[in-house]
Amino acid sequence: MKGKHIILGITGGIAAYKSASLLRLFVKAGAEVQVVMTPNAKEFITPVTLSALSGKPVVSEFFSANTGEWHSHVDLGLWADAMVIAPATASSIAKMANGVADNMLITTYLSAKAPVFIAPAMDLDMMAHPSTTRNLNLLQSYGNHIIEAECGVLASHLIGKGRMAEPEQIFETLQSFFNSRSDLQGKKVVITAGPTHEAIDPVRFIGNYSTGKMGYAIADEAARRGADVTVISGPVAIKPSQSNIKIVDVTSARQMLDATMAATADADIVVLAAAVADYAPAQVAQSKIKREKTDEMNLLLVRNPDIAASVGAAKTANQFLVGFALETDHERDNAVGKMKRKNLDMIVLNSLRNPGAGFGTDTNLIEIFTSDGNSQSYPLKSKREVAADILDAIVKQISMR
Ligand code: CTP
Repeated sequence: MKGKHIILGITGGIAAYKSASLLRLFVKAGAEVQVVMTPNAKEFITPVTLSALSGKPVVSEFFSANTGEWHSHVDLGLWADAMVIAPATASSIAKMANGVADNMLITTYLSAKAPVFIAPAMDLDMMAHPSTTRNLNLLQSYGNHIIEAECGVLASHLIGKGRMAEPEQIFETLQSFFNSRSDLQGKKVVITAGPTHEAIDPVRFIGNYSTGKMGYAIADEAARRGADVTVISGPVAIKPSQSNIKIVDVTSARQMLDATMAATADADIVVLAAAVADYAPAQVAQSKIKREKTDEMNLLLVRNPDIAASVGAAKTANQFLVGFALETDHERDNAVGKMKRKNLDMIVLNSLRNPGAGFGTDTNLIEIFTSDGNSQSYPLKSKREVAADILDAIVKQISMR
């Protein structure tokens, strides 16, 4: 739980008073919690209590009333490792199931990339109504986790099913969810990410369209699963969402090689996701190259070091090395050939022929090849889900050693 980012969504029901205890349990366990409330929830518990307990202002409106600042549900959705909606009223459950985005909590839910846990709380007749059952089934079919309501005395003084699960039980559900995903605890993972820039002169370089999204998604997912993560990063415009990731910034392939060799000596898993420039200018001009009178210009390029092959050559018995192959033709043969040539244990193929895969996209379509001769194809998924698939495949391979 320590260091985990949790969005606690609170909707307008009597059980909202229990949300304060739940929030306290998360904070005590070292999680960072952002509370998002519906306007109705404020009738049941005050934002002051919740912001004091979480140490963060509560978000409820789309804009801050004082400053006009926009509260980005998209950023919140990316930041979170989990979202918990407790209590979830019949009305909010219906809105979530049907995408009725009329408040900040529902927009945040619709933007959340992380697993979502829903703890319903309502009167027994509402709970038993077919529309509630249908909406909860719909939410479950989207992959959300429902934390079942309990039987007991309800706010109406009637006795039946509809009481929100106790805060301790909700907390334990989240804790065991995070524990089941800490399969990289104690592992040192090094990831190369982004492009390299090879200087031509002080104002120009040779580069490529890599944004680093795939490498950073793997870094975030590995950190979520408890790994000690270092990213050797070429020039990118993104940051990891997990705070405990070490970033080593480099520019050129040579710098990336030096930083990677230094970081990988004691690594357990190395993922080579960078799009390294294959060639660099033989000489870097010390001052800006001026336009010549001629229509052509020649630039002599020399081969860059192959970082994956260098890590492969120095591989120790317990290390597991993963490369990427971005191919347009003879995809599978090229990918498997690269895995062997570079002494890798696994290679992840993205074919540029597939829409949605490759540079700059938020999705990826991959096929994984392993050195034991097996392969597995995956459907088009978000880069976060692809990162999880890649790490699952790595963990499986390591466990079979
Ligand atoms: N790679 C690397 N250093 C290089 C080139 C590639 O570490 N100088 C790594 C990439 O990060 C990737 C794998 O090797 O994991 C394959 O990269 P790719 O560019 O597809 O392979 P190349 O060996 O450059 O082959 P080609 O350009 O001929 O396709």
